[in-house]
Amino acid sequence: MSNVDLSVEVNGIKFENPFLLGSGPPGTNAKVISKSFDLGWGGVSIKTISLDASKVVNTNPRYAKLRSLGSKEVIGFQNIELISDRPFETWLEEIRQLKEKYPSKILIASVMEEYRRDAWHEIIERVQECGADAFELNLSCPHGLPERKMGMAMGENPDIVEEVCKWVMEVSKIPVWAKMTPNVGDVTAPAGAAIHAGVDGISMINTILSVTGIDRKTLRPIPTVQGYTVPGGYSGQAVRPIALRQVMEVARAFPDTPISGMGGIYTGYDAAEFMLLGSSTVQVCTGAMLQGYGCIAKLKEELSQFMEENEFSKISDFVGHSLPYFSTHADLVERQQIAKDKKAGRAGLDNETWKGDIAKETEDLTSN
Ligand SMILES: Cc1cc2nc3c(=O)[nH]c(=O)nc-3n(C[C@H](O)[C@H](O)[C@H](O)COP(=O)(O)O)c2cc1C
Repeated sequence: MSNVDLSVEVNGIKFENPFLLGSGPPGTNAKVISKSFDLGWGGVSIKTISLDASKVVNTNPRYAKLRSLGSKEVIGFQNIELISDRPFETWLEEIRQLKEKYPSKILIASVMEEYRRDAWHEIIERVQECGADAFELNLSCPHGLPERKMGMAMGENPDIVEEVCKWVMEVSKIPVWAKMTPNVGDVTAPAGAAIHAGVDGISMINTILSVTGIDRKTLRPIPTVQGYTVPGGYSGQAVRPIALRQVMEVARAFPDTPISGMGGIYTGYDAAEFMLLGSSTVQVCTGAMLQGYGCIAKLKEELSQFMEENEFSKISDFVGHSLPYFSTHADLVERQQIAKDKKAGRAGLDNETWKGDIAKETEDLTSN
């Protein structure tokens, strides 16, 4: 086994490794969470819970897949699944039991409530009594819940984000991470509002609002419930570039706030990219659903290998390492001009030759 140290400390919480299962099917009850802990996950963010699960009614089907042309591999995944429909009291009991059985594993309570201070106070106070290690505020689910003015209906509005996070911080005794929606123009606005309210960390991204496609025979959009649908939340490999971009933006804007990054992580190398752009822990949801929860062994191995190859001995050696290499387009042009002048000085290169290089890049792309 390798010499690298995969453990990481965030907000005073020690994670034995930086891989957490993201809120969703992987954290749906104590049984699957126990199994994941046994398999070696460092932590789990439970399926989002609320005080009154009787208001949560799921549909069937609730998933749709985008496959690649050639291998038919699932590259994008859409869901219209709501938060947990299991009773709040059952969850409280399960959180208690899980923490008793797995004291060193990290259990993050993902919570969501209506736009009422008393409701947020109640959920935070009752859940923290059961021993959860941290909260993740789901201010970001993009489907179903916004119809009840919850989830993304809050997370897209920085004023509401700040107000709700303040309510939470009034009573929370454990670290609080606010989970951001990617469905905004500037994610640093709601993230900044949450940080201003005093949260301890940012989780990102939740799913991207999407329509995966239309069934070619029925001409109805998928997933189709009695002939109809609603736009859902997109996840999986296809969203990774968008997630990386948004993590980078928040990490650059708020360098002192820990980020738990997610969106399309399937391999340890994907995880390393999120860390290079400022995440100190990472979460995996769709990747674990599609590859099986046992993929944690591979994730740890690949991340260790990446660290060995790059001579990093611990996670903090490279969190944010690649952030300084984002710039402006004008700066790229200037750097290119300097390089061109240097090269021209050496090889007598003229401007037309340089333009030829750019044309060749376009040609290479279309010939592939
Ligand atoms: C089926 C499904 C259900 C989800 N349910 C929740 C949820 O209850 N709460 C939440 O905060 N995020 C939920 N998510 C979002 C994931 O936690 C994660 O933010 C998103 O899917 C991006 O990561 P991924 O590409 O690894 O799945 C869900 C995702 C999926 C695919």
